[in-house]
Parts: sequence; structure tokens; C-alpha cells
Amino acid sequence: MGADKEKRVAAARAVGLIEAGMTIGLGTGSTAAHAIRLIGARVREGMALRGVPTSEQSAALARAEGIPLVDLNEVERVHLAIDGADEVDGGKRCIKGGGGALLREKIVACAADRLVVIVDSGKTVECLGAFPLPVEAIPFAREQVRRRIEALGASAALRTDSAGPFITDEGNHILDCRFGRIDDVSGLAAQLSAIPGIVEHGLFIGMADDVIVGRGGTACFME
Ligand code: A5P
Repeated sequence: MGADKEKRVAAARAVGLIEAGMTIGLGTGSTAAHAIRLIGARVREGMALRGVPTSEQSAALARAEGIPLVDLNEVERVHLAIDGADEVDGGKRCIKGGGGALLREKIVACAADRLVVIVDSGKTVECLGAFPLPVEAIPFAREQVRRRIEALGASAALRTDSAGPFITDEGNHILDCRFGRIDDVSGLAAQLSAIPGIVEHGLFIGMADDVIVGRGGTACFME
């Protein structure tokens, strides 16, 4: 069973949690895109809801699907956020940001009453760290930030695309940081948060209320 099918069944399970009238945080990435398309189908069936997108990419997809969008600054509550992840451990801690949207994703996740993370079975890990940790830094501080991260024992690579450094929706750069196995997740998060110039990092700790894992043709909630 392919990962894409697993992503879709996980997304469908999460979209099943949506009730009429909700404001939904729309995640970013290929798994979240499945959810956005399924939410679009719900809207076209007549369900009243609105979405808060976590990236320009997801906003464009949501608009194409006919999902009414609202600015985070204009809502009092986000009832439910649905987003993917790059890695999830047994404590529902995640690495996110492979798609470069970690900053808005973390803000929307934090604003949401409930964050549901949806992943294919290949994303579940015993220990975080095989996936390089994305860290978003302001361009002015980038090399200082890189040195400080490398002093913590990682190698930090500037993410690029065909035009040069990858630029996030908030105008920042991403450093993909290889720490290897991260034994002290909270400790590392605190160290990164203390570095001036880091806007946000991709460790999501204590944020996911639920993790739905697609495995084969079915989707299950992580215990
Ligand atoms: C986007 O910035 C990320 O946090 C994604 O949620 C994450 O990279 C998972 O992406 P896929 O669903 O495409 O694997």
C-alpha cells in the first residue's frame, strides 16, 4: 500500500471530525492537501465552514476547492487544525517544516482548540531526528544562527530552490539541521528558542492532541 493512499485515509479520518460551523486550520504539505480537497468536497455538499490556511500554497488550493478562507487575525477561535508532519514519535511529538511552512503551522496549531496530525505509517518513529529539523531564521541573522546550531552538534544546511535560498511565506530562510537521534527533545527546543534570529523551529511538543496514522487501507488514532 503506497504512502499516498495512507495519507489519504488518514486525511479522510480527520475530516470526519469536522462539524458544521467550525473554523478549520488548514495545514500544508501533501497529506494536508488531501484533507483540503476532502474539506472542499464537504463545502460543495453544503457544509458551512471556513478555513485558516497555514501557507500561501494551501490558501491557493483551498480557494480552488471553494473553501471560504478567513485571516487568523479575524477569528476568535480555530476549532480544529488538521496538518501533516515529517516525523511523529510515540509521545505525539513531531518534526514539521519539510514544506517550509512551520512558522504559520505552529501559530495556527497553537491557536487551535484541537490539533490533529495526519501521517502515513512511514512517518512514525521511535526517536525524532532522522529527518533534518527545519529551523526558520531571519535572513540577517542566518549565518550567526547556523554557527550556533552547529555548536550544538548539528550540521545545518541552507534550504535552496532554483532561485537561490528558499524564502518562506514570512520572508525568512530555512536551515535543515541534522542532529541525528534527538534524545532530549524539550532541551533542544529550549536551546533553539534561545538563539536570537531563530523565528521558529520544527519541533512540535505537546501540541498534537491526536495523531492519525494511515496504515495500509485504514487509519487509526495513535494511543
Ligand atoms: C509543511 O511545512 C510540513 O510541516 C508538512 O506538514 C510536512 O512536511 C509533511 O508534509 P507531507 O504531508 O507532504 O509529507
